[in-house]
Amino acid sequence: MKVIVTGSFDESSRMVAQRITQIITQKPAAKLGLATGGSCEGIYAHLVELYKAGQLDFSQVRTVNLDEYVGMSPDNPLSYRKYMNSNLFDHVNIDKANTYVPGGMGDPEEEIKTFRSKVREGGWADFQLLGIGVSGHIGFNEARDTLQASAHLEELDESTIRANSRYFEDESQVPRRAMTMGMGDILSAEEIMLIASGPSKVEAIRGLIMDDTVTTHNPSTFLKLHRNATVVIDRELADWVGWKG
Ligand code: GLP
Repeated sequence: MKVIVTGSFDESSRMVAQRITQIITQKPAAKLGLATGGSCEGIYAHLVELYKAGQLDFSQVRTVNLDEYVGMSPDNPLSYRKYMNSNLFDHVNIDKANTYVPGGMGDPEEEIKTFRSKVREGGWADFQLLGIGVSGHIGFNEARDTLQASAHLEELDESTIRANSRYFEDESQVPRRAMTMGMGDILSAEEIMLIASGPSKVEAIRGLIMDDTVTTHNPSTFLKLHRNATVVIDRELADWVGWKG
């Protein structure tokens, strides 16, 4: 696993957007695993800029998103489908039929079946984008004694509900359950990039980059088992964590 330290969060976002651009340029029908959250907004903004500058063509790109809350309608402004449309898909020439964000409505068990087939459809992802939760979760794979390999339902941790409540009216509005790609799905991507910034991520990133331990209690540490995973953090976060590299 590689760690890259940039001068700022914006520089981190630009760097990841540039890597995604390279991948799409080399393979126009690339399959991308995408993530939501504040950490990824800058990346999508840069991708839209690059598209508008004529440097990117999404016409053949296929995408699968990491996760979604159970019970969340795709029309809800807080849904991850809405997030993807408004941050990226509505501004580029992607065919929305080639994009998949797990459906929060309907029977969760049925949706998990569809999710599992979408994750594998046409092969594993060429690239997987990740943010990280305060407890080290990736997707919604929460810190536990055991983790799951394939797409599944998760009961969200209190720390996740608290962290994500900033997007909702209050904590009671945050859905308690979510569906997420599993750890095996994420680790099957050809290449993985995780972006993190800000003080709330210090403990999770410390576990990820400061030692060689892999633990289910910080799911991000499984990236240490991947041969092409990169963690992109800014200098400020690197200093808080104590990273000298
Ligand atoms: C959510 C998502 C994760 C995301 C994390 C961090 O819980 N399920 O995929 O990485 O939050 O979000 P943020 O980037 O807003 O801190």
